[in-house]
Amino acid sequence: MKILVINGPNINMLGIRETNIYGSLSYPKLIEMIEEESKKLKIQVECFQNNIEGEIINKIQSAYTEYNGIIINPAAYTHYSIAILDAIKSVSIPTIEVHLSNINSREKFRHQSITASACIGQISGFGPYGYLMALDYFKKSGICNE
Ligand code: DQA
Repeated sequence: MKILVINGPNINMLGIRETNIYGSLSYPKLIEMIEEESKKLKIQVECFQNNIEGEIINKIQSAYTEYNGIIINPAAYTHYSIAILDAIKSVSIPTIEVHLSNINSREKFRHQSITASACIGQISGFGPYGYLMALDYFKKSGICNE
């Protein structure tokens, strides 16, 4: 099983940006946690982060026929990127949307996710554990083994 983890803009600033919301874990530490869990679950994982919408779209497209599942935190693009929504739909790869913070308990403009409708579901508010929950789902649901 091959899973692609995509993180959008400013996620590379974890541990520095708004630590009261996103916590003190750095981006490299988050990746370490994801890689460690993937190893335990015997999942092959690639982690990708980019601040540019087009680069995220290129990465999603390049996953076509290469990956069994995608875990994506589109960050701010969540709330307005029809292009990322279309890219997820284009590749028909089972996708889970993850947010570190609970987007529903924050500003109103964060309540809406444009991208979630193309996903199996959304995990929001569990910090770094959201990514691990998504990995676990992919493993246990068997959705990527079919
Ligand atoms: C975020 C929530 C978004 O609203 C925000 O723009 C982010 C991070 C999260 O993980 O909680 O950059 O996706």
